Amino acid sequence: MCEAGKKTPVLEAKQVTKRFPAAHGQTLTACENVTLSLYAGQTLGIVGESGGGKSTFLRLLVGLEQPDSGEVLYQGTKISGLKGKALRDARRHIQMVFQDPSEAFHPRMKVRDIICEPLLNYHIIRRQEVPEKAVELLRMVELPEEFAGRYPKDLSGGQRQRVGIARALALEPDVLLCDEATSALDVAVQKSIIELLVRLQREKNIAIAFVCHDLALVRQLSHRTAVMYLGHVVELMDGRDVAARSLHPYTRAMLGSVFDLNMDFTKEIPVLKGETPGPLHVPEGCPFRDRCGFVRKECAGHMPPLEEKEKNHFCACFAV
Ligand SMILES: Nc1ncnc2c1ncn2[C@@H]1O[C@H](COP(=O)(O)OP(=O)(O)O)[C@@H](O)[C@H]1O
Ligand code: SF4
Ligand SMILES: [Mg+2]
Repeated sequence: MCEAGKKTPVLEAKQVTKRFPAAHGQTLTACENVTLSLYAGQTLGIVGESGGGKSTFLRLLVGLEQPDSGEVLYQGTKISGLKGKALRDARRHIQMVFQDPSEAFHPRMKVRDIICEPLLNYHIIRRQEVPEKAVELLRMVELPEEFAGRYPKDLSGGQRQRVGIARALALEPDVLLCDEATSALDVAVQKSIIELLVRLQREKNIAIAFVCHDLALVRQLSHRTAVMYLGHVVELMDGRDVAARSLHPYTRAMLGSVFDLNMDFTKEIPVLKGETPGPLHVPEGCPFRDRCGFVRKECAGHMPPLEEKEKNHFCACFAV
């Protein structure tokens, strides 16, 4: 158990696996045996190249996909497999922010209606309460109240993302899942959105999962960081440890830093070479072995288990 000794997670995935049918009767595995937990007031960063299974994992957490095996628990109660009203009730506590929130916004809806829609859907407010509630939510995300009457097209990318966050937080969820939520924004705007998320997390004690392909960004706000490669969590460690202490050759290669498993600093890890193999062509054994500079015989045999190599630091690699 990866997070032994900690308080109860708000949201927990236990050994979840998700496969999708692919062309020619094949099956691809988007997530394999993923066990990760989210805690109140803490951020779990999830990082890795495209195709690693990050979005699928978030969709499993929020119930937009159902796992083929394993389970998702909210406050200790299984929520995977729920349907209808039970699923809807569970999802109220787990909200998502996407990369481009405008895709989720109806272009002809005004900002006030966009951010208050979840509250109306769950019958938490009445229509006449929308203007007042919208102002309160806009204030929360530091947008001027006159934005309530605007349409999504009248907002910048950063402003739209703030509206997306306001909408996601309208139901006062315990969990916020951010899928590349800042990836489309320029650096300064990214920074301001991250500062907003950090402030809101502190005020509301929300558990956040922050998915991003940019490791440098993830480590700025993560209490814990999970590294995913082709559906597997290959490393899990404290957020602040990523730069200095990461162990897995994939994480080190993503950091592009000098690294040697035997602490011989005269040798440099080859910076990530090659493309991620397609999800249908994952090699047997360690999925990273086609690109790894430290590959050895046993890497071809089976997937290395995710083991605690240092206190609270888990890594799936035979060479570590
Ligand atoms: N609904 C789906 N049907 C088929 N394949 C899917 C589906 N969703 C995701 N995949 C595949 O699962 C793998 C993981 O995708 P994804 O979770 O989007 O990764 P990431 O977010 O890390 O880029 C990819 O190979 C992707 O093509
Ligand atoms: S298990 Fe082997 S191939 Fe995989 S990362 Fe470790 S050394 Fe490289
Ligand atoms: Mg994705």
